[in-house]
Amino acid sequence: MKRDDILTAYNFRHACKSFDATKEIDTKDFHLIMETARLSPSSFGFEPWKFLVVESPALKEALKPVVWGGQGQIPTASRIVICLARKMPHMKYDSEYIQNFMTDIQKLPEEIVTMKGHFYKKFQENDFKILESERTLFDWSCKQCYIALGNMMTTAAMIGIDSCPMEGFDKEGVEGILAKKAGVDLTSFGVAYMVAFGYRENAPMEKTRQMKERVIEVI
Ligand SMILES: Cc1cc2nc3c(=O)[nH]c(=O)nc-3n(C[C@H](O)[C@H](O)[C@H](O)COP(=O)(O)O)c2cc1C
Repeated sequence: MKRDDILTAYNFRHACKSFDATKEIDTKDFHLIMETARLSPSSFGFEPWKFLVVESPALKEALKPVVWGGQGQIPTASRIVICLARKMPHMKYDSEYIQNFMTDIQKLPEEIVTMKGHFYKKFQENDFKILESERTLFDWSCKQCYIALGNMMTTAAMIGIDSCPMEGFDKEGVEGILAKKAGVDLTSFGVAYMVAFGYRENAPMEKTRQMKERVIEVI
């Protein structure tokens, strides 16, 4: 990919307010987008996320009233992804999730598990003070989930697919619906964001951004 192609993709991407509901995203293209979420980096490699792909029309109907920032997107998007961030019971250094992750997923030998576990504990307790509250831990998980969000949207743009990131919703309302209708365990997961994908219905508004000099400082 050439330099110009990269910038073209970044300029193509915009927060699409409504999609052409007659256009479906090809399965292969959607898989590519989701692969870039799955391959995203995370702190210590512990992947504090889960991606729910909402296909059920009934679930979309139920979500629409609580997603005020997605009134045009929810009914017209070809695909909707809800990103769940893992909470304390999964992400705390001594959790079963973390211990199993190091052995089963990362396939680390025992001595490395001990060493990595030690660093992770120190990181969570002292360096970043992530264990101060359920909220600090959840927000830290969310921060990492947003890396996957950026990657998904950029990948989509590179292959001509539009997207809209969404935080415009009543979080507790959405979580209540997901618990009731999709069996989401709210002690272990919370909603980080939603993202809709499809093909634009209208031309986007002109991009507005601050000048480089205001956002990049050489020190
Ligand atoms: C975390 C996050 C949450 C957002 N939530 C919404 C939303 O709920 N609804 C919406 O229409 N746009 C939403 N946006 C889109 C922003 O308003 C948009 O990215 C910004 O105005 C810049 O415009 P552009 O993306 O078209 O360049 C969100 C963006 C981000 C990054």
